[in-house]
Amino acid sequence: MPESPFDRPNLRVLSGVQPSGKLHLGNYFGAIKQHIELQTRGEAFYFIADYHALTTIRDTATQLATASKKPVLPRELVRDYTRDVALDYLALGLDPHRAVFFRQSDVPEVTELAWILGTVTNMGLLERAVSYKDKTEKGIEPSVGLFTYPVLMAADILIYRSHLVPVGQDQVQHLEMTRDIAERFNRAYGEVFPVPDYHLGQEAKVPGVNGQKMSKSYGNTIEIFAEGKALQKTVMGIVTDSQPVEAVKDPTTCNVFALYSLFASPLDREVMAERYRAGNYGYGEAKKALYQMIEDYFTAARARRKQLEADPGFVEEVLQRGAKRAREIAQVTMRRVREAVGFRAASIG
Ligand code: ADP
Ligand code: TRP
Repeated sequence: MPESPFDRPNLRVLSGVQPSGKLHLGNYFGAIKQHIELQTRGEAFYFIADYHALTTIRDTATQLATASKKPVLPRELVRDYTRDVALDYLALGLDPHRAVFFRQSDVPEVTELAWILGTVTNMGLLERAVSYKDKTEKGIEPSVGLFTYPVLMAADILIYRSHLVPVGQDQVQHLEMTRDIAERFNRAYGEVFPVPDYHLGQEAKVPGVNGQKMSKSYGNTIEIFAEGKALQKTVMGIVTDSQPVEAVKDPTTCNVFALYSLFASPLDREVMAERYRAGNYGYGEAKKALYQMIEDYFTAARARRKQLEADPGFVEEVLQRGAKRAREIAQVTMRRVREAVGFRAASIG
């Protein structure tokens, strides 16, 4: 075994992101930023997990319809969010010449593998899934799809014979399940799958505007591509304690400072920390500095996103090209899997 996964020859990196809402700073610093960085460290596969998004999209549609008092069709959300994720990744630096970028549902072989892996997955393993419990506690209908979500995720990873999966902290348990499932399959049917490792992003848990973990489902996000008045309003709404301007403040317990630190150079960060400790520095001022940081940090990406938005044909072509490459690999793996379990090598023909 190599010491570090990065020493492995022909390293294959893979990750997915659900098209289940507008991407936010938690997604960026927890996952997307490292996805972009890792595309130069190995052969990278990134996909839009639209099969997975179906587990919660009806719930999102109902919530949006209630809030806007207008009907919202799940299929429109799937389509719009998928387009948004594609634009966001390309604007943020995903290079389609380096990384294979595709829609999960364009490689339907993955659902066949999910079925087969389901037969080596223990009920007990899935019953311990924290993310399933979190989601059902939030009121999402506990469908079979939601319950078996980690099996499809294992199929996503294993079908491309991935070695390294960059994710945020909340996905680590899913990666441990994938390892368990791969080992069980290999024990039963022979060594077909490499057992993958996960790789954590720079920021395990970016706080939302209310101090809880930033998440689409907590309504506490700062969207990556918010700008102008809308961005200002969100940033000014970040919850702080109610100390007066004069008070000496503790940067280490403040959400505004935590978010500012994600963007700032070590020097800028230290300057703001000193201001907090010196007193006579209000949270309003810190928020303005944060707002400006976010505006500046994503300026180039925003411009690029607008260009891409005007060229939907290009985006679609990237995704279809990516799917073609991904599917070739998935089909090779499925031939091995089908043979390993005793089926005819190809499902058709
Ligand atoms: P959400 O919680 O908003 O629905 P997802 O579950 O779709 O986000 O997460 C997509 C990726 O972003 C995952 O790898 C996840 O670990 C990461 N991520 C999401 N929220 C955060 C956060 N607040 N801090 C760090 N990483 C995060
Ligand atoms: N479950 C992941 C999330 O919510 C998305 C995902 C689906 C994924 N399949 C994957 C991530 C495979 C990494 C590898 O963020």
